[in-house]
Amino acid sequence: MKLSLSLLSLLLLCVLGATNALNIGSFNIQVLGKTKMADNRVVDTIIEILSRYDIVLVQEVRDVTDDTVDNLLSILNKRNKSKNYKTAVSTRLGRSDSKEQYVYFYDPEVIKLMGAYQYEDKNKVFERPPYAVRVRPTTAGGNGKDFFIIACHIQPKNAAVEMDALVDVHEHFIATAGNAALKKTITDRTIFLGDFNADCDYMTKKKWTEVRLRTSDKFTWLIGDKTRTTVADRDCAYDRVVVTKGLAVSKGVGISAVPYNFIEKMKMSSDNAKLVSDHFPVDITVDFKKTAGAGGSTKNDKPVKSPPKKDGTLTKTNKPVKSPSKKRSLDDDFLDDDDDMDVDYDDDDEEELPPRKKRSVKVSA
Ligand SMILES: *[C@@H]1O[C@H](CO)[C@@H](O)[C@H](O)[C@H]1NC(C)=O
Repeated sequence: MKLSLSLLSLLLLCVLGATNALNIGSFNIQVLGKTKMADNRVVDTIIEILSRYDIVLVQEVRDVTDDTVDNLLSILNKRNKSKNYKTAVSTRLGRSDSKEQYVYFYDPEVIKLMGAYQYEDKNKVFERPPYAVRVRPTTAGGNGKDFFIIACHIQPKNAAVEMDALVDVHEHFIATAGNAALKKTITDRTIFLGDFNADCDYMTKKKWTEVRLRTSDKFTWLIGDKTRTTVADRDCAYDRVVVTKGLAVSKGVGISAVPYNFIEKMKMSSDNAKLVSDHFPVDITVDFKKTAGAGGSTKNDKPVKSPPKKDGTLTKTNKPVKSPSKKRSLDDDFLDDDDDMDVDYDDDDEEELPPRKKRSVKVSA
């Protein structure tokens, strides 16, 4: 009896623990359009992967119509009748005729979308200007504590320049935030994610020293340089997750990121996996109980310690971020953003997110 009771409480703990973790994903699904959508096996795999997340950024949607996103959404919601994912979709971005869209799929039972923001790239730095969302987890542990997510699929040949400019994007969003609470959220609780093409042929040691996102101590890199995020058997850490220090060292929250090797996890051949994408998705786990740096890291996936050394060599041995020694209560860490709304959207009307104030943002009903 005693044994089964403790077993029960253990189980209960597991269940409760699970509800306190938020699963965020980032996935470059190479040329995701009508051709790929016509292959049922590929679609099944994509749907299985997307359904693992509370919110997931999909990159490289290439379709001149809305069909790809609409169909994915409908299949995703048919898979599990008790779920009803929604989307936040960017405009079609890119300098050439080949345009891409960023799409966030999110579960509104867990995530409340507070706003979506297309970065206006006045200086034309980006191939595909970043697309950001402000989200509020509504589950127990993370209740009312917003995150700001800045997504970018970076042009390979311009990787260092675009990564560096993400700092300007961050500062721009802080500067233009409609109120102090939102400013604080963006300052302290931003997650940068996406295929940054941040390795191998596209980066050199010297280039890293020019990337403020890497050299500034305001940011913590959660995916190490030795991590493989590609389906091709080559250790390239193209897909990255970078968080503001406020998230990385917050005592009430643990955040970690690892690639999801779906070849192994879903027991696929690498040939079949290549039909899905040339990238692995990246899992970002926000645990509202753990201390930063405590969870999810494996040998290769420890937070990267920036900045690079003076001589330009990168620190490859990455130690987890230490928590601040100062004792703080959970509430201090999450000094609430209260209920102030940002300038762009009403809180209560997610359905009304479509274009307002010239921002071309589409949100599904
Ligand atoms: C369907 O969604 C519900 C609610 O989120 C969840 O509890 C359940 O495990 C899901 N089922 C499957 C098969 O994924």
